[in-house]
Amino acid sequence: MEKVVSGIRPTGNLHLGNYFGAVKSFVAMQDQYQCMFFIADWHSLTTHPKPGDIQNSVRTILAEYLACGIDPVKAPIYVQSDVRETLELYLYLNMNCYLGELERVTTFKEKARQQPDNVNAGLLTYPTLMAADILQHRAAKVPVGKDQEQNMEMARRCARRFNNIYGVEFFPEPQNFYFSDKALKVPGLDGSGKMGKSTGNCIYLRDDDKTITKKVMKAVTDSGPTEPNSEKPEVIENLFTFLRIASTPDTYQYFDEKWNDCSIRYGDLKKQIAQDLCAIVAPIRERIEQFSADTATLDRIARDGAEVARQSARATIDEVRRIIGFRII
Ligand code: TYM
Repeated sequence: MEKVVSGIRPTGNLHLGNYFGAVKSFVAMQDQYQCMFFIADWHSLTTHPKPGDIQNSVRTILAEYLACGIDPVKAPIYVQSDVRETLELYLYLNMNCYLGELERVTTFKEKARQQPDNVNAGLLTYPTLMAADILQHRAAKVPVGKDQEQNMEMARRCARRFNNIYGVEFFPEPQNFYFSDKALKVPGLDGSGKMGKSTGNCIYLRDDDKTITKKVMKAVTDSGPTEPNSEKPEVIENLFTFLRIASTPDTYQYFDEKWNDCSIRYGDLKKQIAQDLCAIVAPIRERIEQFSADTATLDRIARDGAEVARQSARATIDEVRRIIGFRII
């Protein structure tokens, strides 16, 4: 069975970008693939979180993973820092990556701009750690959102380069997996690019109906279409993206026709989006409450998951050591 792996950084609660871009695929894939999902706490160190916050942040994501429907019996869930084997592979992969190509990664350039006083080597080698996360399980598929495309390209390059240098066919080239037919970028509702924690434009899985509705009703729009069948400006296309991912095809078509004949009322459109999002989020929110309360179970799930992940990573690392020419310890 093909292997699947993916992770999310524990830097706050899961938002709809994480859900529709990644976690929804995790849940759909767990029945058909050999999946493992993790919480990327090492990756969150690039911004130096407080030691006391890490455990709580990790448990938060764990409870949210479970609430979204990941079944740890089918798909073990682990914490990245529990699997030290990853670091060994990270080192080997770094030896095969070049400064120039790492500096060209868009997310690196963005971060370097956002935090000019903290352009650390971890930021630069973020893609190689991500490659190690994936390649240590020799995963074939990785469910991610559009923003991870460049990191995934680096992961494939790491796999190819290792195979070429050592003349082996050891690492498969991991492919991006999308729930729908193409890469998904869940937009922000403030008219600015993607939904993301650093931009403060998120709807969270923990938000109650009132908060969700308020956020949707405040979404940026324009003065409305004046010509039939005109192209939608970005802020309106963003609202239609929500209809596409959260509502039925009929509902999408209904509003699309209203747009095309210029009779659309944005208030109605937003009400519909809010209602459909609430219907998806409300049951997840309730389950988050339940799972969060039982920290002993959360910790046990993470321990069990780490055991499976370590075994899988160790098998890969042993083989990598043999290929490189090291002793197996
Ligand atoms: P992170 O923590 O920023 O986001 C987690 C996942 O959510 C997706 N996502 C989105 N998808 C669509 N639209 C959005 N607005 C949106 N916002 C977030 C991301 O694409 C991602 O799939 N580097 C990764 C974590 C990571 C990882 C890995 C992922 C570390 N190692 C190995 C896969 C495999 C990250 O920072 O994701």
